[in-house]
Amino acid sequence: MRTGGPFRTGAAVWTRTLNYRHAFHAGNFADLVKHALLLAVLGRLTREAEPLTVIDTHAGAGLYALQDEAAQRSGEARAGVARLIADPLAPTILKPLVAAVRDCNPPGPLQVYPGSPWLAVGALRRDDSYVGCELRPDDHGALTVNLAPLRGGPRVELLQADGYDVATQWLAQGRGRTLLLIDPPFERADDYACVAELIAGRPDPVRQPALIWTPLKDLETFDAFLDVLERARPASLVAAQARLRPLDDPMRMNGCAVVLVDAPDVEAEARTVCAWAAAHLGSPGGCALVDRLAG
Ligand SMILES: C[S@@+](CC[C@H](N)C(=O)[O-])C[C@H]1O[C@@H](n2cnc3c(N)ncnc32)[C@H](O)[C@@H]1O
Repeated sequence: MRTGGPFRTGAAVWTRTLNYRHAFHAGNFADLVKHALLLAVLGRLTREAEPLTVIDTHAGAGLYALQDEAAQRSGEARAGVARLIADPLAPTILKPLVAAVRDCNPPGPLQVYPGSPWLAVGALRRDDSYVGCELRPDDHGALTVNLAPLRGGPRVELLQADGYDVATQWLAQGRGRTLLLIDPPFERADDYACVAELIAGRPDPVRQPALIWTPLKDLETFDAFLDVLERARPASLVAAQARLRPLDDPMRMNGCAVVLVDAPDVEAEARTVCAWAAAHLGSPGGCALVDRLAG
């Protein structure tokens, strides 16, 4: 497992901007929606023989202790993954995520929740590769330690680097079939613009697929983001929203969305996952909306 690489480190960026700590949010409704759809997309992509690389532009720490002060204080995992695990009627499409959560925990109450690096590496084959980018030195260090038990599977590279730069350079080098997993904290004013630039800049003729996670606060921001993505003329564009409540208060995270660009068709799965999250983790007025905007 390499922990360096040819990409520029993002030390200057991280010291300037990064306050976001995913440990507070790990295992919440938004993680469940994102991770269930990530596993659905990877399930489709790994049916093809050609090796696949996942570029995880915002990797986080890989595993999150649910007994930590951060998780206990926020209570988000209790309101999210704990309810999923306790739901015997959870839809089949959520079962791979439930199995992955169970796999990284001892029997009994949940101790940890797996992040996207753990889930992606677990879903890839030996000839596939995973490249995880994490700017924070502490989270990058934790990621390196947390993924060590998965050695021996697909090739894993963990970079303390800016994920937008790494992904742009990777695609420019034309290094084969790739899934971009783009999961920014959206604490930087330019995160939406950086995502849109990365999507628009994917080289032709094979524009690699992307799974993008966004928060849902107000509809204006989300619609404006989708407009920009549409202007990049993707062959397919699907927006899946899990709204926990009506989008009345733009200061709150009222839900989340997963936007699939040129990705395999998991529209039906997205409907099921978002509907389960809205019905079981939301309040009255929540709903699921899945729209195909292109393709
Ligand atoms: C939402 S969390 C990632 C969660 C992870 N994808 C998962 O699903 O388990 C976002 C992470 O991105 C990191 N980050 C923020 N900006 C970044 C950038 N430009 N490049 C790489 N990592 C970044 C943050 O430190 C944080 O750990």
